[in-house]
Amino acid sequence: MQEFYGMIGDSHRMREVYQAIELASNVDVPILVQGETGTGKELVSKAIHNYSPRNKGAFVSINCAAIPHELAESELFGHEKGAFTSAHKARKGRMELAQGGTILLDEIGDMEMFLQAKLLRVLEDNVIMRVGSEKSIKIDVRIVAATNKNLLQAINDKTFREDLYYRLSLFQIHLPSLKERKDDIPALAEYFLCQVNSQFNRNISHITSSGLKRLQNYDWPGNVREFKNIIYQTAVKAKNDFITLEEIAAILPDMAVSEPDEQLNSPSWLAFSDETSLYDMEKEAIKKVLALNNGNKQKTAEALGIGRSSLYWKLKKYNL
Ligand SMILES: Nc1ncnc2c1ncn2[C@@H]1O[C@H](COP(=O)(O)OP(=O)(O)OP(=O)(O)O)[C@@H](O)[C@H]1O
Ligand SMILES: [Mg+2]
Repeated sequence: MQEFYGMIGDSHRMREVYQAIELASNVDVPILVQGETGTGKELVSKAIHNYSPRNKGAFVSINCAAIPHELAESELFGHEKGAFTSAHKARKGRMELAQGGTILLDEIGDMEMFLQAKLLRVLEDNVIMRVGSEKSIKIDVRIVAATNKNLLQAINDKTFREDLYYRLSLFQIHLPSLKERKDDIPALAEYFLCQVNSQFNRNISHITSSGLKRLQNYDWPGNVREFKNIIYQTAVKAKNDFITLEEIAAILPDMAVSEPDEQLNSPSWLAFSDETSLYDMEKEAIKKVLALNNGNKQKTAEALGIGRSSLYWKLKKYNL
């Protein structure tokens, strides 16, 4: 299984991302990583650190959306003893902990305005001041900022500083959503199956082709994170050493299915060559009608004009 910078997928869109990681590793400027939730922003940020000359230093991350207002400044820049009531001793902030390395400012779009102003100063002067101190501390840290928000919109809404945006956005990396790179789905499935096999001591070799097709017909609003979760869930429950369409359909949410596969809808979808055996025709027909009905067995049986139990029997017979 081929990994690129610790990531899976060799679609055109991902190759662009790998090129950007390569460039970003070699130039010591701030990086802005943008992409929907679960597209791999954290993986990319770590990859940039790991492949850059800073990899001997620490990789520190801070989730700007999750720190309470009162603690935000001290989390980022540290504090001196007595700076506030609970400051019993001096403490380094994440910026100082990342000295010589990289800091990931995750969910930067949710950083509070007052902190944005302070961050801007860090980017301009490369110095910080701990809370409760007047002393400037020089820092040598690469900043990688990540967000799933549209920062230009946030600037418009007056929740993000324009000047900070221009400082951060010199080098941008845009991660494609999973639905924009569905050709990577088989490789991702194989990758996560390997992980499940080793973590849960299973021996699942593959997903049936109708199962894979179903995975490719879904829009994945939660992107790779959601995909990984569905593969893990189905793999853990799988009855055989492969995963079937029904096992996927039983877990995959019904909504967010993209337009039905054109091939399935075209009038020739059940055309067989003269050599096709009756066995293969029936198997193929069941497979396609099942896919067309998103794995719903009741609807499939109705469409095929057979009872549910005989559908079950046939699914077993054909290993579907
Ligand atoms: N290309 C990829 N190859 C392998 N695994 C991936 C890939 N992209 C994402 N993942 C996996 O998907 C999960 C989500 O990735 P990550 O945390 O980097 O996403 P994110 O963009 O930071 O999400 P969020 O916006 O929710 O913070 C992780 O388990 C990660 O390992
Ligand atoms: Mg993240």
